[in-house]
Amino acid sequence: MEQMEIAKGIYSVGAVDWNIRDFHGYSTHNGTTYNAFLIVDEKIVLIDTVKKAFSDQFLDNISTIIDPKKIDFLISNHTEMDHSGGLPRVMHRIGEDKPIYCSKMGEKNLSKHFPQKWNYRAVENGSTLSLGKRTLQFLETRMLHWPDSMFTYLVEDKILFSSDGFGQHYAGPEKFDDQVGDAIMPHAKKYFANILLLYAAKTLKLVDTVKEMGLAFHMICPDHGIIWRKNPQRIIDAYVEWSEQKSAKKVLIVYDTMWHSTEKMAEKIAEGAAREGVEVRPMNLRHCHRSDVMTEVMDARAIVVGSPTLNNNLYPTVSDFLTYMKGLKPKNKIGAAFGSYGWSGEAAGMIQSELEGMKFETIDPGLKIQYVPDPEEIDACIGFGRKIGKAVKDG
Ligand code: FEO
Repeated sequence: MEQMEIAKGIYSVGAVDWNIRDFHGYSTHNGTTYNAFLIVDEKIVLIDTVKKAFSDQFLDNISTIIDPKKIDFLISNHTEMDHSGGLPRVMHRIGEDKPIYCSKMGEKNLSKHFPQKWNYRAVENGSTLSLGKRTLQFLETRMLHWPDSMFTYLVEDKILFSSDGFGQHYAGPEKFDDQVGDAIMPHAKKYFANILLLYAAKTLKLVDTVKEMGLAFHMICPDHGIIWRKNPQRIIDAYVEWSEQKSAKKVLIVYDTMWHSTEKMAEKIAEGAAREGVEVRPMNLRHCHRSDVMTEVMDARAIVVGSPTLNNNLYPTVSDFLTYMKGLKPKNKIGAAFGSYGWSGEAAGMIQSELEGMKFETIDPGLKIQYVPDPEEIDACIGFGRKIGKAVKDG
């Protein structure tokens, strides 16, 4: 993807990372992009930079439009290094004294990332900055998803530069939502599930604030993935829906297995739940990445977690998943635990405690089976699945 004029005098100048497959523990099967935007008005402004490794390409992109030295100032919507890593090279090229507009927390965070004494200009929530013919307005979005996060709104063009908000880890030849169509939504959902779910309540509050301000959007430009131009409201509505954390009648069974006994239990629990007429999705953590599982957690009413007992403990992949899910704080869930064991059998109880700690309504007690399930125990698994399926069906 090369630089492109996305509206008159407004250019997308970021970089495509086709090959990244692990974004701090999030599986990016389609790579990602680090979007940044150049506005050429009476003043020339650059909104965000890119990951350090893409700095040269980024400056080349800008150079095809203007001499980077002509940039009057930068805006940093968010400090995380995928958007600020390019700052040292960019500042060196455009002039170390050029102002960097950011939130108050942005100034603190950038100063903790970079030793350079740059010319920071901390902005207030709602404050504006004239570019000549156009005006930028800053909107603090604290903890969406960092303390420094803010959006920048181009008032006359009604374009929102939304930093990580409304993004997707998606690298493709397309630049806009209408070029990808519905296929972009699973990427946006996965992004929300893994980056923003924890801040669902703040997201709803932000959407309300934006409504109260009466802001309209002709285009939403996130820092990752495609730009929303055909129907920006679609992604706002999706964020509201995801933030409300309403569940479908769906049972998600997440597990790992050593000698296939816990796997057999998972299959039979799935069979039992399906008999109650609810949607069932088993996911083996050895084959499914935690971030893909987390996407399925979003609309599942029941999260059923299974682990064999290994050395008096949880299987490591299950422990990893529980830690990850706990951090993202999904709400309104039914939880259930199961697992096979050889002699000590702690795993199911440990899962149960974790799920209770996450304030899930647990199906008590968890189901544990020694060694290999016999026909009676297989029936018990089906019965356990039916109990979970019924709880989901009944709400
Ligand atoms: Fe895309 Fe929070 O950085």
